Amino acid sequence: MIRGLVAALLATVATPALAEDVTSPDGRIVATLDVDNDGVPYYRVMRDGAEVIAESDLGFTFTDAETMRRNFVIENAVTATHDDTWEQPWGERRFVRDRHNELAVTFRETRDTSKRALTVRMRVFDDGIGFRYEFAESADMPVANIAEELTEFAIAGDGTAWWIPGGDWNRYEYLYNETPITGVSIAHTPMTVRLDNGTHLSFHEAALVDYSGMWLRRMDGRRFRAMLAPSSRGAKVVREGAFETPWRTIRIADGPDGLVESNLELNLNEPNKLGDVSYFEPAKYIGIWWGMIRGDWSWAQGPKHGATTERAKEYVDFAAENGFRGVLIEGWNYGWDGNWFGNGRDYSYTRSYPDFDLEEVAEYARGKGVRIIGHHETGGNIQVYEAQLEDALDLYQRLGVDVIKTGYVADAGGIISCNADIADPCEGEVYEWHDGQRQVQHHLKVVQAAAERQIAINPHEPVKDTGLRRTYPNWVAREGARGQEYNAWGRFANGPEHDPTLVYTRMLSGPMDYTPGVLGLVGAEGVPIASTKAKQLGLYLAIYSPIQMAADFKESLAEHPRELDFIRQVPADWAESHLIAGAVGDYAIFARKDRNSEDWYVGGVNDATERTVTLDFDFLEDGQTYAATIYKDGPEATYLTDKRHDIAYETLSVAKGDRYTVRLAPGGGMAMQLKRR
Ligand code: NOJ
Ligand code: CA
Repeated sequence: MIRGLVAALLATVATPALAEDVTSPDGRIVATLDVDNDGVPYYRVMRDGAEVIAESDLGFTFTDAETMRRNFVIENAVTATHDDTWEQPWGERRFVRDRHNELAVTFRETRDTSKRALTVRMRVFDDGIGFRYEFAESADMPVANIAEELTEFAIAGDGTAWWIPGGDWNRYEYLYNETPITGVSIAHTPMTVRLDNGTHLSFHEAALVDYSGMWLRRMDGRRFRAMLAPSSRGAKVVREGAFETPWRTIRIADGPDGLVESNLELNLNEPNKLGDVSYFEPAKYIGIWWGMIRGDWSWAQGPKHGATTERAKEYVDFAAENGFRGVLIEGWNYGWDGNWFGNGRDYSYTRSYPDFDLEEVAEYARGKGVRIIGHHETGGNIQVYEAQLEDALDLYQRLGVDVIKTGYVADAGGIISCNADIADPCEGEVYEWHDGQRQVQHHLKVVQAAAERQIAINPHEPVKDTGLRRTYPNWVAREGARGQEYNAWGRFANGPEHDPTLVYTRMLSGPMDYTPGVLGLVGAEGVPIASTKAKQLGLYLAIYSPIQMAADFKESLAEHPRELDFIRQVPADWAESHLIAGAVGDYAIFARKDRNSEDWYVGGVNDATERTVTLDFDFLEDGQTYAATIYKDGPEATYLTDKRHDIAYETLSVAKGDRYTVRLAPGGGMAMQLKRR
């Protein structure tokens, strides 16, 4: 209202140009780009004739140049359409269709002092929109020192939001809040919203390259604004010459399945730049890991040291006997003694502790057809890591290590980097955010250096995934949320609703190295995990990753032969994936088709509420029968008592058209293998 009044008074300031619209291929979504009467560029999104995103401003502030906000006119508008299908080397599905309409509007400043251009490219798909800013080379502003991005997201209806805090100390490792939209403060993306009319939305970004990660800050009501992760330099982003920002994305779906099955961010990323990545094999792995997480073993030297040559060989033996491709070994290298948290100054990425012989273990593994999964914990010290990066990667490459887990354990804002003002060799330390521009650059540098050596990367304490696995398919998984490890650190530390919430939030961004398969259901000092045994199997279907751990001790895995058999067989690479039942934060059941056979797998996870779900097998092939092996919660199963171990098995013959009713226990889950006869 006030805005309209001011606009009327200032009507002479800018000539309002005609709004430019772009419609989704199915005609349901219409996005508009325009300037208001103050010459402020904005966008709006309608679906089925109703506003989903109300008028939302676009713009920037800079540390050394005038704000880009008012006094723009539309100079130019170009449209395009696109429809093709591309193939993923690995993933939740083999083929992805990219069908969208595009509108690129160039806004031009009309100030006497400044005539800068700002192009906004908007792509509208049936399942949402993405837009980015494009800066041309400009004599007016040869370097963009971005203080803040002013992009708004004004949600047009009431609803519920699922979100974790942005800008807090523990990076992305929080339990999700479920609040009214108006209860959000500062959120990381993806942020999930269910409008009261049932429409599901997810706010995120795609192709985060050489820029700062975006948080969402609620300004007032249901209006959010971008807030970029800070930088030690003052300007949050520094870019020279022509450049593009990441895409700002909004998935829009009728229900949770549409939200989960959308490929919006992947489609907005550049195609594969690495070529043949068949060296990466989606697979399952075990490791010298859970013992350190629980405190039984240590990463550091001493009587509890986990990574000994002897133990590593035992894990290799177990992997070979049970068909696990990989064995993760953490804590084999110098640097873990004393305080390794958020420090990282002492790490050597090439020197083994005396009780661990890397060459010997690697050779032993080779002889057994098993691969060591390498580990580079940095303590957040990328200065020390980057100085050793080439040597560290060369060493692993020579030993046949083709997947490396990296780690950045430091409080948010505690990434230790070089002082950007001091040239190579860099001296002095500055502190950066896990999702600031410097760390975004760092991750890509590691991924590219690893790709040169045919090595895949799986960062923990990472920057969030924005679909870059399409462009760099050796970037195979990440952590970037509270993983299973939290279950070791306190009774029910990840509550039962955490997993069915991850499915609809964090997992929309990409694969997660969640580390399922703790069949013993026990954390540190005997604390129980908020999960039934069947849920540990359901996690392999609910939380997608092309590398899936069986995280428990090998002795504990061996104590559960039937469950171990399921873990051995469940694929880590899929031809198709569908959410067949679920609700945000409540439960999630997927049907996924193996990429290498005609078999299907069905399974998922439940929250704390007992429920009965009827599944239908519409996805199966006509006229075929399937032998189903089912792992489900036993009649008394509940995460709350020792009955969490109660599991039941069933075998059936099923075909398309059949239905199956299953009880999901509190904190429960289920898994099913469907072998085509
Ligand atoms: C935290 C990671 O999430 C965990 O998997 C790893 O074992 C430790 N850091 C040590 O690197
Ligand atoms: Ca972690």
